[in-house]
This record gives sequence, C-alpha cells and structure tokens, in this order.
Amino acid sequence: MSFTVRTMTQADRHEVSELIYISINYWYQTHGCPPIFTGGPSSCDVFFDVYETLDPGCGIVAEHNETGKLMASCFYHPREHHVSLGIMTAHPNHFGSGAGKALLQFIIDFSEGQQKPLRLTQSAINVDSFSLYNKTGFVPRHAYQDMFLEIPEAGFAHQPEGLSHVRPATEHDIPEMSELEFQLAGITRDKDYQYLIENQDGLWSMSVYICPESGKVAGFLGSCSHPATNLIGPGIAVDDRVAIALLAHQLNQHPGKTPVFLLPVESETLVRTAYDWGARNCEMHFCQVYGDFQPFQGVNIPTFMPETG
Ligand SMILES: CC(C)(COP(=O)(O)OP(=O)(O)OC[C@H]1O[C@@H](n2cnc3c(N)ncnc32)[C@H](O)[C@@H]1OP(=O)(O)O)[C@@H](O)C(=O)NCCC(=O)NCCS
Repeated sequence: MSFTVRTMTQADRHEVSELIYISINYWYQTHGCPPIFTGGPSSCDVFFDVYETLDPGCGIVAEHNETGKLMASCFYHPREHHVSLGIMTAHPNHFGSGAGKALLQFIIDFSEGQQKPLRLTQSAINVDSFSLYNKTGFVPRHAYQDMFLEIPEAGFAHQPEGLSHVRPATEHDIPEMSELEFQLAGITRDKDYQYLIENQDGLWSMSVYICPESGKVAGFLGSCSHPATNLIGPGIAVDDRVAIALLAHQLNQHPGKTPVFLLPVESETLVRTAYDWGARNCEMHFCQVYGDFQPFQGVNIPTFMPETG
C-alpha cells in the first residue's frame, strides 16, 4: 500500500472529521462498546477547528497515492517542555496498513528534533493503539480511571470542603498555573490555559483553587462542553482535597449533562468521593511517554481536548 504523509490543509477538514468519527466509533463498536460519537461526522469538526486554532499546521494525514483518500490522521502540539499527540485515527479499511505508524514516526521525529519527550493519553482497553505506541518505544507511566456522572438540570448539589476557595480562572493566574504544573508534572502549556480562559467559542471553562494561607494557586481544572467531547480537564492539584473541590466546581458547569473525567487510580480519596457522588467507571487510560518523564507529584487530571499528556 503506498501513501504519502503530508500536513493537513483546510480542504481536509470534512474528510478528517469523517475519519475520526468512523475510526473511533468502528473500533469501540466492534469491541462490545457503544459508539463514542453520535450526531454525524460533522460533530467531529471541533477537533480540526480547535487544533488548527491552537497549533496551526500541526495536523498530519496519510493520503492514499492512487485514490487521494485519507487513510489516517493525527495532531501534535509542541509545548514548552514536551510535545503532546492528539487524536490518532486510521480508517477501518486501512487498519494494519502501516499508515498509523508512519504518522507516529513523523511526530516522533519532530519531537526528537525539538529534544522534547512526546506524551499522550491512551486507552488501556485498546490493545491496537497500545501496541502501536508500546512497540515504537512509549512507556505507560500513569493509569487513570475514566468516570462519568449525570449532573441534574438544577446543578451539582455536593459542596465539598474547600469549594469556597475555587473561582473562575483569569489571565492573571496563568504564570502561577504554569509554575504549579511545572513543579508537579514537569510540563507547562500556557497556550492551552490561555485558550480555555479566553473561551472565544463558548465551549470552555477553567477554575483555580486559591490556597487561603498563601494566596497562591494550589490547583486548576478546565472542561469542555461539546456534543462530541464533554470532558472535565485538563487539571493539576497539590492533593486530593484540592482536586475534589475543583472537580465539584467544574461538574457544576455542566447541568443536565453527563461529563466524563479521568482520575489517577492511586488518588484514593478523590476516587472514593467520586463514587460517593454516584460516578461510574467507563474506561481506563494510560499516560504514555516517549522519552523523559518526571513522576507526577500531585493529582493530574488529563483530557483529550486539548490533548495534554
Ligand atoms: C490505533 C490505530 C491508529 C493503528 O493504526 P494502524 O494503521 O492500524 O497501525 P499500523 O499498521 O501502522 O501499526 C500497528 C503496529 O502495531 C503492531 N501491532 C498491532 N497489534 C499488535 C499486537 N497485538 N501485539 C504487538 N504488536 C501489535 C503492528 O505489528 C504494527 O507494528 P509493526 O509495523 O512494527 O509490525 C488504528 O487501529 C485505529 O485507528 N484504531 C481506532 C482508533 C484508535 O484507537 N485511535 C487511537 C487513539 S489513542
């Protein structure tokens, strides 16, 4: 099979959405799970739109040399201390064709050129993508349990200790958010914080927890509310108590919806609290890293949108 790896263009927008929609839904539906995306392929336009706005020119595709059809697509996000990898998809007709691996190699080469580790959040129930990354040199470094919770129309009723120390983030918080994430996770991504705080398309929310003693940011948590992706994250917190307050604040931003959130499996108090609130498990994910990794010091809550690693 011959194909060419090239940068995505605006003309690819609809075909990339079709590819994401069919690839992910096909994989889950042929593995005993419900579809991830509903409402038609255009619901996945949000990936192209957000990623091209955040990181223009950082989408790549594998194009079939004879038909000109797209066989696979992926996004990557260069940040200050790492590169993260966004949604990787191959068309089901081309699973096993080498297209996914060719895109991955392109992004690995880019990251090595920048001398930065490459990170992503990968489904622990998907042996196909696990193998793709693991065989190429990624190491699973951290495990998360994906949970979902139905939020009543009237809002999220629970008011855990510390909720009064949470408020919406502003641009002035960015330097402290960056400093905190670097301290706890060894990475920063000011561009992403800025994007969520500005919220130009009305999909995003970002909260900060202000430590009452020091007056400094002790955690932050964002979320996205879109039909294709209703996720809580990205976020980081110094401990479970701060993470619980942030999670309650963010869940309350989604009345009448059922957001999904990824919690570190070893954050026992946080996980138990989510169960007490009625949350249920739906999947597991790994933090996968190619290159150097600093173990998380606090609570890391990743997301896929924007992909954070
Ligand atoms: C994951 C996905 C992108 C892989 O793309 P692909 O084009 O099928 O993968 P490739 O053929 O390029 O490469 C797969 C590699 O994994 C290896 N592999 C696959 N299954 C394996 C297994 N069970 N054990 C060991 N290696 C395995 C293959 O041998 C190949 O490596 P090789 O070329 O060194 O032999 C594709 O299956 C897909 O789109 N799945 C649905 C969407 C998805 O899961 N996306 C990932 C989100 S994180």
